[in-house]
Amino acid sequence: LPTHYTLPSGAKIPSVALGVWQASKGQVGAAVKTALDAGYRHIDGAWIYRNEEEVGRALKESGVKREEVWLTSKLWNTFHAPEDIEPALDDSLKKLGTEYLDLYIVHWPLAIPKNGSPANYDKELTANPYPTWQKLEEMVEKGKVRNIGVSNFNIRRIQNLTANPLKIQPAVNQVEINFWFPQVEMLEFSKKSGILLEAYSPLGSTQRVGDSLNVPEIKAAAQELGMTPAQVLISWHVQRGTIVLPKSVTPSRVVENIHLKQLPNATFEKIEAAARAHTPERGLNPSKGWGLDFDIFE
Ligand code: A2P
Repeated sequence: LPTHYTLPSGAKIPSVALGVWQASKGQVGAAVKTALDAGYRHIDGAWIYRNEEEVGRALKESGVKREEVWLTSKLWNTFHAPEDIEPALDDSLKKLGTEYLDLYIVHWPLAIPKNGSPANYDKELTANPYPTWQKLEEMVEKGKVRNIGVSNFNIRRIQNLTANPLKIQPAVNQVEINFWFPQVEMLEFSKKSGILLEAYSPLGSTQRVGDSLNVPEIKAAAQELGMTPAQVLISWHVQRGTIVLPKSVTPSRVVENIHLKQLPNATFEKIEAAARAHTPERGLNPSKGWGLDFDIFE
């Protein structure tokens, strides 16, 4: 299985990251250290996860050199206005204790005024985030971030953004991908457009990880190959050509999740067919919870 992918910038991004969404304070630091010990060189975080200080401290204490680790953070929705971007980025840099990010991602295609609520979103900047993107390009030129990307953008929103005269194309789109929501169309579109997908909730997140690990095709593959069902699923993701971001704060699972193997073609195809055989079910859609008058994924 590929251990890295190469982005248009030439940067090599490790195919597996420790995801730290929902990794709580007091737990996330130990998980990061376990991960670095186990060979992870990629941490996928975000400002809004509110654990960047602990992640940064763990990285320092691990003794692993900064330049050996791929660090991703994400621009929160309330900071899309061009003047708010550099301060938001600086805050993440300070918390993480680093001078640059390997990747900085627009967390959601939703611009909220700094002291506003999601329901009072900025319609213009949400419909066309080009001013936000231009500022991110400037952050690359300044050397504060090496690569920029998006998250939770659907195909139409990617096309809207890239219809602008971008200096730097989005390197990645981080979206929910798992057995229950395999993102078949998005995967094809992204491959054609040269945008690397990053799979969040790759095991189905807390709500569905149990179901995922019990899928008959996954269990059978695990038995056949002497792997755990989680290892089969994570390997399947990489074999589909995406980055995968499994989250765990359990040391044995953190270690387990990076020991992957190429699945035999027939096994891979069986799992792929099973994932495509049911109606896709998205696990996460905050549109209603945020009181939006539209579906953020439509
Ligand atoms: P925990 O963090 O308590 O170890 P996802 O990566 O799809 O977001 O899924 C995260 C969920 O899956 C968490 O509840 C996490 O639990 C659990 N999980 C992560 N790795 C494994 C594994 N190897 N086996 C079983 N459950 C796992």
